[in-house]
Formats: sequence, C-alpha cells, structure tokens
Amino acid sequence: MDYRRTYIRDLLDSEPPREASAFGWVKTRRDSKGIHFVQVNDGSCFQDLQAVIQEGVLDEETVKQITTGACVRLDGELVESPAPGQKVELQVRSVEVFGPADPATYPLQKKGASFEFLREISHLRVRGNTFGAVFRVRNQVSWATHKFFQDRGFLYVHTPIISASDCEGAGAMFMVTTLDLDNLPRIDGKVDFSQDFFGRQAYLTVSGQLNVECFAEAFTNVYTFGPTFRAENSSTARHLAEFWMIEPEQAFCDIEGNMNLAEEYLKYLIGHVLEHCSADLEFFRQRIEPTVVETLQHVLTSPFERITYTDAIKMLESSGESFEFPVFWGCDLQSEHERYLTEKKIGRPVIVTDYPKEIKAFYMRINDDEKTVRAMDVLVPRIGEIIGGSQREDRHDVLLRRIREAGLDEEPYWWYLDLRRFGSVPHSGFGLGLERFVMYVTGMKNIRDVVPFYRVPGSAEF
Ligand code: 4AD
Ligand code: MG
Repeated sequence: MDYRRTYIRDLLDSEPPREASAFGWVKTRRDSKGIHFVQVNDGSCFQDLQAVIQEGVLDEETVKQITTGACVRLDGELVESPAPGQKVELQVRSVEVFGPADPATYPLQKKGASFEFLREISHLRVRGNTFGAVFRVRNQVSWATHKFFQDRGFLYVHTPIISASDCEGAGAMFMVTTLDLDNLPRIDGKVDFSQDFFGRQAYLTVSGQLNVECFAEAFTNVYTFGPTFRAENSSTARHLAEFWMIEPEQAFCDIEGNMNLAEEYLKYLIGHVLEHCSADLEFFRQRIEPTVVETLQHVLTSPFERITYTDAIKMLESSGESFEFPVFWGCDLQSEHERYLTEKKIGRPVIVTDYPKEIKAFYMRINDDEKTVRAMDVLVPRIGEIIGGSQREDRHDVLLRRIREAGLDEEPYWWYLDLRRFGSVPHSGFGLGLERFVMYVTGMKNIRDVVPFYRVPGSAEF
C-alpha cells in the first residue's frame, strides 16, 4: 500500500472495462432489491465513485460494515455505468473494511447539517461535499500563488513567525513567552522580560512584511506566504485570529506597479481556479452562491476601478445610503462602506488609494500633501477588503518621524530603519488574505468555513 494507488479522480476518468481498486470513505449506502449501491470518495475530486455490490457477493457481516463514514477498499471491475451523470461504476468483487463507523454515533450523517454544527466537528467535516470542494480550491490557490510568482522570478522567503516588532503598529499581537505566569520576574514593578526565553518581549507575527522588505533590498522581487496572527477581539464572518497571507514586495516599484501586480495576480488566481476547479465551482454555484462563476468570469475580463480615498468618501457621502458608521473624510472605511463601493457603486473590484495617514500603518510612504499615504486596498464584492498594501516610506528621516508620531517605540525597528540608511530603494508590496480570497472564489459566507481549523476569540478547538 502506498501513494501510488489510483485516486478516485483517475478511476472516474479511465476507460472501462478494467480491473480497479478504490480506496476511500463511504458517503452513502443505498440498498435496492438484490443490490447495494455505495458512494465512495477519497477527496481527490468532487464526484463520488459509485460501487455496485450484488447480493451474495459479500457476506452479510461485511455488507453491514459498509456504512457512511467507514473507510474501505473496494476491488472489482470498472464498467460503463448505465446511470446518468457518471461514465463508470465499480462492480465489486471484494471489500476490505479498514475502519468501520458506527451509524448510531457517526456525527456526519445528516444531509443539510448547518455550517455552525459542522464547525463543531471540524475534524470530520472535511469529508463532506462542501469542505472537500473548499479545500481543493484552497489547495489550487496556494499552488497557483507559487506558480505565479515563480514564473515571474520572485524569490520565496520564509519570514519568521516569532517577532519582536509590530508590523501594523496596531498592537493586536499574541505574546510568546515561557515565563511562569504564576510567578513573574519583576523589575521596578514591571515584568522583567529580559528573563524571558528570547531575553525580550516576543510575539506571533501579524505580517511578514518588515522581514520580506529586507529581502526585496537584495533580490528585488520577493514574496512570503505563511500564517499570521492577530489578537483582535472581532468575531465577524471575515476575521480569524490565525490566517494565511501572501505578501509580495518589489524593489524599484511605486504604487502604480504595486496595483498592477495585485490586479494581475488576482486575475491569474481566478483564471487558475476556473480552469482547475470547475466541478467544485459548479457545486458552489448551485448550492452556495448562484453568482459565483459568472462574477469570476466577469472579473477576468474587466479592468479594476482605481479611485482615491477622497473620491471614495465623496461617492459614499452622495450615495443616499444610510450607513451604520458615519462617513466623513478621515473615517476608516467599514465593511459596509467597502461593499457599497465595490458592489453597488462600481460593480467590480476597486482599488482605493491615498488614505489619510492617521488610519494607516506607519510604514506607508507619505504624499506631498502630508495628509495622505500611498496606501492601496483592493475591495471586491461580497467581501470588501481582500488586499492591503502600499508603497513604503523609503526616506530614513521621514520614517523615523512617522514611527514617533505613531507613538511607537523605535527600538524594535532599528534594523527596519537601517534599510533606509543603506541602499534604500523605492519599493512597494501588499498582502492578500488567503481565506478572504477563498471566500471570494467559492462564495462561502463565513471565513471559519474556508480554513481547516479556525482560531477566533474564545475558540481554538482541534
Ligand atoms: O491590510 P493588512 O493588515 O495588511 C498587512 O498586513 C500588510 N503588512 C500587508 C503588506 O503590505 N505586506 O492585511 C492584509 C490582508 C487584508 O486585506 C485581509 O485580506 C487579510 O490580510 N486580513 C485578514 N484575514 C483574516 N482575518 C483577519 N483578522 C485579517 N486581517 C487581515
Ligand atoms: Mg488592511
């Protein structure tokens, strides 16, 4: 037994008749007169393999064990199927049950179980149709990401997960410590972190950006792709405490080039998913979000709208909509504002640039007006912000001033400032939230349902 067994995907595609072995988990068993129909899936594709067991071929005890959730190997002859919608089926001659699943207690029985319920069985939900489709799409998006950047000569950098500096400067970080919380060492009344594992305070990173910028100043075009962590106390359908981010960074690149890359990359991913996940997308179209495929096809062929924050505010002010959060120049765009712009006003992805410096991170390049920064957020229908990025402040004195103005301690940023002292370069980058993107292409409504095991305030089961 090894990985070279044939996937069900390949069995479904092969020419009958032929001898075949299918390995997988039973989705359903249906008993008809003298025949048992068994649907088996191994996650390799959306469609199940139908296995047909004629009565008398197997002993009764074995047949009883072939229930939803059981892990089996089925051997027999792959033949042309008389049933519609499937080319082949397996006429079973023998079965090995590796792991039975007691029908009385197996939790993944009912069709139409709610997503809330399925979250409570995250260890098993991946065997179902929806999550099979979600994680195949997620896999393809990850693979296509590497393909896109590698084909364009970008260097893949593994940025650290433990960090001493707050990239976004928003303080929403999880601390990493080995100190005994019941017996903290103190100095002048404060916790003495010099006695901690790293000899200083350390955190889980909120972004790989600061580290990836170092590499951009050596390899020009780079990207990082890894988990990031935010201790924001927001239990929304779009926030996770642990999520994955793809962060490219380009030297010799201004905000224009950055926007161009973001648009090209998103379109590439969409094209890839349309090409490689058509059966899964068809499921999402039928069962989750009727507009999903048509939206993706539309996005592929239309240029993204590009507007400034100031124009966005004007559009929102003159919209006639009543928003929960008031709109004024200087306000942070809320999800409802973002969705109005991209869904109702513009009807396709839109890149908003030049935000007020007060609502964006310290590292963004300040414009000559001294009020706005070269930020760029990509907003898409149904999701809102999917990408956040900017041209970076590449002038040492300005960056130092901005760190101080933001009320941040400059010490942890000494090396980041050094990048502006030695061989500084105009450079730009952005971060795409992987889960937000998977929500977008699948039409799934809650971010907890596009990540294998979600971490949110109050929950880190599994
Ligand atoms: O806009 P953000 O905070 O940007 C950065 O972290 C930059 N350092 C990226 C860069 O320029 N290299 O986050 C980027 C994206 C967001 O647009 C969103 O898609 C996603 O990351 N994101 C989250 N996804 C899930 N849960 C959260 N709590 C998220 N916070 C941000
Ligand atoms: Mg952002």
